[in-house]
Amino acid sequence: MQVIAITARKGGVGKTTLSMHLSVLASTPDSPALLIDTDPQRSLAWWHRLRGPDEPRLIEADARELTGLIKAARAEGFGRVIVDTPPHAEDSILSAMRSADLVLVPTRPGPLDLAAVASTLDLAQRVGKAPLAVINHAPPRTGAAEPAIVTEARAALEHMGATVAASVLANRVAMSHAILTGSTVNEHEPGGKAAAEVAALWQEIETALATRKTTR
Ligand SMILES: Nc1ncnc2c1ncn2[C@@H]1O[C@H](COP(=O)(O)OP(=O)(O)O)[C@@H](O)[C@H]1O
Ligand SMILES: [Mg+2]
Repeated sequence: MQVIAITARKGGVGKTTLSMHLSVLASTPDSPALLIDTDPQRSLAWWHRLRGPDEPRLIEADARELTGLIKAARAEGFGRVIVDTPPHAEDSILSAMRSADLVLVPTRPGPLDLAAVASTLDLAQRVGKAPLAVINHAPPRTGAAEPAIVTEARAALEHMGATVAASVLANRVAMSHAILTGSTVNEHEPGGKAAAEVAALWQEIETALATRKTTR
């Protein structure tokens, strides 16, 4: 079993959006994913209620309960656990990072966003985890070349010591439509650009997980 923690000390960058999308892609009948919502705001749980069927399963919890919950999830046969976290509670973020095989740090590509992401990357490095940064809310590509703001963000994040996912998520209305129906873009509009971007990101994350040693 592998644990993915999605962390960022800034709100609105896509932690919850990534949690929902990755959990659905990570789930297979033989190896279901479990979502743990540790943000007291419970946005992930709100989406999960809209969804109806309890799939992927979701637990609302305090981050202090993570060790026990992860142990129980392993015993129950879950293949992946995805932990959504609050933006401001440093203790909760650290608990989620410590429990994780992979720490994802979503960020917007703007200069002020990048200035703010440094402290999240520092926290991950402090607990010995190599974070994978994910650029979200990017302007959509108009041609073959990546928008300059994305290329600049990538360079800045690498300079801060992060590995940056090659797959970037653009700002797309399909994302809001999907969330409002309790689904993901891959379910709501499977042939769309947003779905392709999320699927490419998940593939990259699976590769990153495969090359990391699972500690438990
Ligand atoms: N790629 C995207 N395109 C369009 N809207 C997005 C995208 N990613 C996130 N959003 C929207 O931005 C808002 C903040 O995202 P959210 O996942 O709640 O961030 P966080 O959990 O980091 O606070 C939400 O309304 C979400 O639907
Ligand atoms: Mg959130």
